[in-house]
Formats: sequence, structure tokens, C-alpha cells
Amino acid sequence: MGFLLFGPTEKRNKAPHTGMAQTPLARKLYIKTYGCQMNVYDSGRMADVLAPLGYALADAPDGADMVILNTCHIREKAAEKVYSELGRLRKLKGAREQDGGRMILAVAGCVAQAEGREILKRAPYVDMVFGPQTYHRLPEMVARASRAGGAVLDTDFPHESKFDHLPGEIQKTPTNNAAAFLTVQEGCDKFCTYCVVPYTRGSEYSRAQADVLDEARRLAGAGVREITLLGQNVNNYQSAEEGLGALIAEMAKIEGLDRIRYTTSYPADMDDDLIAAHRDIPELMPFLHLPVQSGSDRILKAMNRNHTAGDYLRLADKLRAARSDIGLSSDFIVGFPGETDADFAATMKLVEDVEFVQAYSFKFSPRPGTPAAVMADQVPDAVKKERLAALQDRLNAQQLAFNRSCVGRTMAVLLDRSGRDRGQLVGRSPYMQAVHVDAPDENMGSITDLTITAAHANSLSGDLTVKSSKERASA
Ligand code: SAH
Ligand code: SF4
Ligand code: F3S
Repeated sequence: MGFLLFGPTEKRNKAPHTGMAQTPLARKLYIKTYGCQMNVYDSGRMADVLAPLGYALADAPDGADMVILNTCHIREKAAEKVYSELGRLRKLKGAREQDGGRMILAVAGCVAQAEGREILKRAPYVDMVFGPQTYHRLPEMVARASRAGGAVLDTDFPHESKFDHLPGEIQKTPTNNAAAFLTVQEGCDKFCTYCVVPYTRGSEYSRAQADVLDEARRLAGAGVREITLLGQNVNNYQSAEEGLGALIAEMAKIEGLDRIRYTTSYPADMDDDLIAAHRDIPELMPFLHLPVQSGSDRILKAMNRNHTAGDYLRLADKLRAARSDIGLSSDFIVGFPGETDADFAATMKLVEDVEFVQAYSFKFSPRPGTPAAVMADQVPDAVKKERLAALQDRLNAQQLAFNRSCVGRTMAVLLDRSGRDRGQLVGRSPYMQAVHVDAPDENMGSITDLTITAAHANSLSGDLTVKSSKERASA
């Protein structure tokens, strides 16, 4: 059974049969995105690469000419979802063929990278499987898949960077709203013992500062007001000796770009320049997602995290000294192999000491190929469940307390979505809280001062009746 492997050594067609020269046929493309923000960014760029071939984004897979699942391998559940979704899509693909059409079914992202051949075995009706570093080669892969024959598998880490081969123009894709993601760094060399990312995304790579600034200017020119810089270790971004703090300082000069964020950061890579940027650059939002994973030094060591609980607390203090109103968010793993009640108590203690404004927490999930998956002393699921519930109780209580402390305050909210009810818009506060407000459509895409009127577990309500500073001055 032949699937085509194509790597950097293989000779490639200069002009694939994709109909690029003629006016392209209108084709329907459906992309379903799982996992992290980087996958969201990647999905947008895949749509950009495919647009010249006539593919336009659709919001459902029915009747699509191509369906791409952009997948996540971080935990077992995330990977399993892909196979159940493929089962559903198989039926749609069959229906499309009965109508005399064709649906190209593709699996992209981190499951594709980690389990490429396994996917083709378990779901032989899949046409293309390709990893996160190869989507600039999509036009060729589509040409090959269109010529029937076997499936196309491309899970290389090519020598050329995809960033140098993507179209310069950002199209109308999901990345192109009032808030956008921009990948500046990819890959990870940290090898935390539980994590698949170093294997699925490859080693750390930073884009040149000038390229990033070009893309940021184009986004701002298209109406984007807020950019979140993305990287698996975004705070280790390095371009010609300059780090993330310097990049953010340049970004802040871009006309029309009012808000900058970055995610995800590795505690040991938070340098003084970046901390100073939180003090000096008003465009940099006072919110930081800084995963700690555990509060136990013994477990942090077994995780290969290169920081202690004390290091994290000192870092939180430094950040607060630079910007007193900064809100911290984090990721936690409970039930890492060997985690005792005392280790877990240390995590709860760290949560009390830091006070997070929001956080994500997960049960440890053994991932094939990672060292932690085969460590002794795996923690029983019942214990993981209990610890997760206790931790989430505390984290939820902290989040609600923070949300309540926002009531009565005026917050600048970037309104970037419509709400469920008519006349309602939804936006994000400086702290990434969702804020619901009754507001006219013309406020969409703008940063609007709102009075916060109510706090909920995961969101806020606001209203527009905030007095402008002029009104306040003359009152
Ligand atoms: N680069 C980021 C994010 C990695 S993935 C970082 O360094 O933190 C996002 C989160 O998923 C991680 O922070 C971790 O909390 C969680 N995670 C990763 N692997 C996991 C595993 N095997 N089991 C449970 N949670 C995991
Ligand atoms: Fe995974 Fe650790 Fe790298 Fe984050 S720093 S991506 S958790 S290996
Ligand atoms: Fe998942 Fe890959 Fe992101 S494993 S979290 S999609 S880097």
C-alpha cells in the first residue's frame, strides 16, 4: 500500500496541477482546530496558502472539497478526539463521493506529526497527513492527493522554514479579527518529562524581528488592535541578540496597534528586559500566563522544569514590582508519577501564595515516548481526580474573587465578537476576561470603556454608561 513520503531530498514539481494559472474554481475548505493558540494561527495560515487554489473557508464540513483536522497531541483525550471525528467525517466523504464529488480529508498538526503512519493504518480513507512544519508545501500535497493514488504523508522537519514560504498577504482568515495571533517562536528544547511538544514541534526557532514587525504592521493595517505573540517558549524569543522585550518595544510603535500580549512563557526564561517591558510599555497588557505545573520542588525536578517553587514566587514578586496590577495565570499538572499528598499540599500552598486570576489544571496523562509515561509510581486515577477537584476549587475561588474585585471598575474592553443575544457584544478585558455588554454594532472592533456591573465564574458583564474623562472633568 503506497503512501507517498516526500521529504527535502525528493525532486518536486515546479508547477503542480492545481489550476493556479486559470481563475481558480470555487472550492469549499473546512478546517477544525484543536489544541493551543499556535494551532489557531496555523489554521489561518493554511487557509492563506490554499486561497490561491480557490479554497474558501466554510463553516461546516458538509459538502466540503477539503477538510483539515488541525490536531493536538498534548493529552490522551485530545488525540482520541481526532479518531472519533475522522469516523464521522468518513460518512460525509462517502456522501460527497456518491454525489460525484470528492472530499480530500487531511490530518495536520501534532497528532499527524506524532502518529503519521498510525493514522493511515487506523483511518486508511485519510488522504493527507502532514506535520506542523510543512504546511507551506500544501499546494504540492493537494496536487498529489488530487491525482488519486495513495495517501500523502509529510512529517518532515524541513531545513527551510515554513515562515519563509508563506504568502506575504494575510487573507480574511480567522486570524484576521480585531484580535490576532502572531507566531514568533516555535518548537521547544526544554523536554519537560511529561510533554510531547519537543517531539511534535521540533527544536526552538525564532523568526527574524523584521519579518515579525512586517506581519504585525499588515495586521494593524487590516484593523487588528490587539496582537498576541505566540511561541511554545515565547519568552526565549531571540532575533540577532535581541529578545522579546526589544520586539515588544518595536511593536508598541506600530500605529493602530493598541494592545500586545505574549504566550506561553517558561519561568526560567523570564529575563529582566522583559520584566522591565511590563513596567515601561503601556501597550503590553497587565496579564501573564506563566505555567508553574507544580509547587513541589521534588516534582518540579522530576518534571525537568529547571525552576523551584521559590524561583516562581520570586518571579511573581518581581513582576508585581514592575507592574503592580499584573494578573498571573498558570497551568498545573496533578498526579505526576511519584506525587505524594505532601507534594500536592505544596502545590496548594503555592496557589495560596501567588493568587492567580485564572488558571488551567490537568490530570497527568502519560504520553507515549515521553520519560514520565514509563516512570515508576504512577498515581491512581481516583487520586488524580480528587486532587484535581481540590485544586480547581481553589483556583475557581481565586478567579471569582478577582472577577468580583472588578465590579464597579472602568475597564477598557476590546469588543471583538457578537453575543448570543441580539444587540449584545462580547469583548476581552486587559486580563482576558470575557465581558458581555449591550452595545450597538458600530462598537465592534473598538476598545471601549465599560463599567463592570457583575462578575460570574468565567466572565463579566459591563455597560456603556461610563462617563468620558471630559464629562468627569466638567461634572
Ligand atoms: N509551552 C507551554 C505549554 C505546553 S502545553 C509551557 O511550557 O507551559 C500546555 C499545558 O498542557 C502545559 O503547561 C501542561 O500543564 C499541560 N500538559 C502538557 N503535557 C501534559 C501531560 N502529559 N499531561 C497532563 N498535562 C499536560
Ligand atoms: Fe512542553 Fe515543557 Fe516545552 Fe512547555 S516547556 S512545551 S511543557 S516541554
Ligand atoms: Fe497541542 Fe501541539 Fe499545541 S500538542 S498544545 S497543538 S503544540
